[in-house]
Formats: sequence, structure tokens, C-alpha cells
Amino acid sequence: QKQDDYQLMENISRFYQQQLKVAQDKNIAVDYLKSRGLSGQIAKSFGIGFISDQWDGMMKAFANNRNVTQQLVDLGMAIPGERKQPYDRFRGRIMFPIRDKRGRVIGFGGRVIGDGTPKYLNSPETRIYHKGQELYGLYEAKLANKQLQRLVVVEGYMDVVALAQHGINYAVASLGTSTTPEQLQTLYRTVKEVICCYDGDRAGRDAAWRAMENALPLVQDGISLKFVFLPDGEDPDSLVRQQGQQAFEQILQQATPLSQFIFDKFLEDNPANSHEEKAALVDQLQPLLNKMPDSIIKNSLIEEMASRFSITSEKRLIELQKRSQQPT
Ligand code: CTP
Ligand code: MN
Ligand code: MN
Ligand code: MN
Ligand code: MN
Repeated sequence: QKQDDYQLMENISRFYQQQLKVAQDKNIAVDYLKSRGLSGQIAKSFGIGFISDQWDGMMKAFANNRNVTQQLVDLGMAIPGERKQPYDRFRGRIMFPIRDKRGRVIGFGGRVIGDGTPKYLNSPETRIYHKGQELYGLYEAKLANKQLQRLVVVEGYMDVVALAQHGINYAVASLGTSTTPEQLQTLYRTVKEVICCYDGDRAGRDAAWRAMENALPLVQDGISLKFVFLPDGEDPDSLVRQQGQQAFEQILQQATPLSQFIFDKFLEDNPANSHEEKAALVDQLQPLLNKMPDSIIKNSLIEEMASRFSITSEKRLIELQKRSQQPT
């Protein structure tokens, strides 16, 4: 008889956690986690584990028969060998269990200890793990907060865990560079305020823009989307370790609102000086407005646009508002 997928994944997660205590070479993992500033308590609350660098460390413990072996392949935990038996996907890594919002282990992320490539290895898409839909740390954030008010979206596992280590226990990671529409939907089902805080590099800034575009259809009165842009080369983990909880929460407090982000980016990309340039900019902003349902937020965006680009004629403003209300 077949073991439940979720039960099997939970057992593997416990096995990885236990390896942190019993593996022969556990010290390289324990020392690494310490070097990243993590306490045993935080590691435990995220279920962080370890697997030694061998071909079959996990398989030896779990693959008792053919059915389970196949199940482990299906769940992305084992890689079928061409001639040999399926072997462990994750080897010689720090293991982060990825839980769904009900707390069930659905996949893993594994980080190499120190330098090495790939830096992170993730579970592939499986029948229980759908990457674009899950948020790493959401279950843990809900568990830590009776009444979640806001969520900070970051890029990586380490960002979530390091923030929690510093008392900011309401961060989740999108586990890919951009935050998908499905993830944003999940976020807004949970809280009204979402702050995107990606890495201070080109990729992070691009990810912020894509998240903004993905969020537009969801923007309505009473909810907010803000952005934090970190200094070049920093990520939430490095910054909170340098500056601490208070400074980081101060940065969150000063996050850039949606509308400001849009205007700043547009003006940065094309400084509008002439009347013609301004008119062209307004036309470029139109597709963004079209993605938004009607709301007070949207109207104030239109009004702000009018004043920033000095659209003085009332006729033009009304025309803008009308155009943006047409179904797309
Ligand atoms: N990522 C990945 N595969 C990689 C690199 C990154 O899946 N080869 C994902 C991981 O979820 C990672 C996130 O993208 O956490 C952010 O990547 P990056 O900023 O490069 O890593 P950090 O999280 O900053 O990793 P660390 O601090 O451990 O070096
Ligand atoms: Mn899928
Ligand atoms: Mn990065
Ligand atoms: Mn990073
Ligand atoms: Mn990092």
C-alpha cells in the first residue's frame, strides 16, 4: 500500500532535520548556518535540514521497495539513473522544506554549503508542487502572527529566514525572480498590504516592475502595494544583518507607493520635456491604467498623471478617464 505523498515528504523533511544532528559531517552544515547568523531555534522553526554529499543518503533511508522508489522519482526527490538505481536529487546541501499554506511539505530548496554551483537546487514541478503558486514562508509567517497585517515579498529562502531571525517574521519568498499573478492573489487573500523588497540589482529592479504589472488587475481600494529598493549589491538578508530590525523596519516604513514607482520609472526612462514628449508618455501609461479595475486609487493615479504631465485641459482628462475604463 502506498504512503501518502505529503506524509512521505514530511518524513523526508524530518530526516534532513535529523541529519543536522547525527550526520558524520554535520559540523560543516551547522557551522555554515552559524556563519549565516542563524540560531538553532530559527533553523528549527523553518525545519531547515542537511543532507551529506552521497548518492543515496536519502534513498537508503526511504526507498524500501519499487513503489516508493517510483514515488520518490515522481515527487522530484530522486533522479532516475540510466542504468543505475534512481539516486538522490539533493546531495551535500542545506535543505529548506517548502510548505503549502496548510503546512504540508510539497518540495525542497537545497543550498550548497559555501561556494559551488548551482547555488540553489529546487524541486521540479510535481503533482504536489506548483512553483508559480507557492510562497516560501507563508505558512511559517501565519503561524508566527495571529493577525498578519502585511507581508514582505523577497527573492530567496535566506532572506525569509534571516528576516525572521531578526524579528521580522512576516516575509515570504516568491522562489523565482518574478512574483506571479497567482502568488499575488494568494498574498492579497491573506493581507491588505504587500511590500516587494527584492535584491538591489538589475534583476531585482526588473522583478519589481513585473510584480507591479502582475498586481495591477488586483489593485483596488483598501489594498496597497509598495516597493523597497535596496542599495546596490544588498539583499534583505545582508541588510538586516548589517543594520538590524529597527533600521530595516524603518526602510519598510518608507517604501515607495505603486503610483510613485510607476511615475519615477517612466520619467527615468524618458525625461519628458516638451509638450509632445509629455503627451507621448501619457499614451505609454495608458496600457497600465487599462489593466486596473476602477477604483479611487486608479482615479488619483489619473489625476496625478494629469498634474505631473501638466494636462491642463479638462477635456483631455475626461477623455483619459473614459479611455481607461473601456474593457480591454
Ligand atoms: N535561486 C535558484 N537557483 C539559483 C539561484 C537562485 O533557485 N541558482 C533562487 C533561490 O530561491 C534563491 C533566490 O533565487 O533563494 C535568490 O537568489 P540569490 O539572490 O542569488 O540568492 P540568495 O537567496 O541571496 O542566496 P544566498 O544569500 O544564500 O547566497
Ligand atoms: Mn503545475
Ligand atoms: Mn539577486
Ligand atoms: Mn539575494
Ligand atoms: Mn543573499
